[in-house]
Amino acid sequence: MPKLPAARIAPSLLSADFSRLGEEVRNVIAAGADWIHFDVMDNHYVPNLTIGPMVCAALRPHTEAAIDVHLMVEPVDSLIPSFAQAGANIISFHPEASRHVDRTLALIREHGCQAGLVFNPATPLTWMDHVMDKLDLVLLMSVNPGHGGQSFIPHTLQKLAEARRRIDTWQAAGGGPIALEVDGGVKIDNIADIRAAGADAFVAGSAIFGQADYTSVIRDMRAGIQEGDDRRQAVHQAAAK
Ligand code: DX5
Ligand code: ZN
Repeated sequence: MPKLPAARIAPSLLSADFSRLGEEVRNVIAAGADWIHFDVMDNHYVPNLTIGPMVCAALRPHTEAAIDVHLMVEPVDSLIPSFAQAGANIISFHPEASRHVDRTLALIREHGCQAGLVFNPATPLTWMDHVMDKLDLVLLMSVNPGHGGQSFIPHTLQKLAEARRRIDTWQAAGGGPIALEVDGGVKIDNIADIRAAGADAFVAGSAIFGQADYTSVIRDMRAGIQEGDDRRQAVHQAAAK
């Protein structure tokens, strides 16, 4: 079992205080977060309306951390140049919302960003199969998209393990790195299970911004991630005997 890549914690701004987003971004990065998860909802692909490229551009000077844009919009392609110009580092989208998945992934990379594909709980992983060479990130939704503060859907753990297998097989055959991110209902008390199943990037909105002390939540999450690593190691050692 290959060692997992270093874990990234990506607080979702959806649960931040929208009246002072710049300060929230600075504070959560200072508290130890790695990426800023930026949820874009259009009241069409999902029944909610959030923030767009202008807010991304306004936040860009507040941090050097990667801005991880999660597009829950339809159509997708017309927004990609705007987000690239607004300073996004990673752009991911839902395959159901694009007329041509391969073309959308290529468009993201052509604009200098990393490209990700997002899987709803009911979206099969087979969407990955023929575009592995165009992926930098796979994002598994562990809730149905649209709102923060929902509960983690347990069967995501099996899907995560399957996605991990596919990525490891791809990389073992010489393919490039693909991050495996999970989004929805990630908390201190389930992050060890999520890490043990193979995730390497963790989106958390309400679990972080719902607490006064971001540093302590992120520290506890890192301890949970370490516990998940220890469990994987123990399984690996037991299998090697
Ligand atoms: C849901 C969004 C998530 C959400 C996560 O549609 O994509 O990023 O903000 O929020 P929590 O961590 O509260 O489930
Ligand atoms: Zn998201």
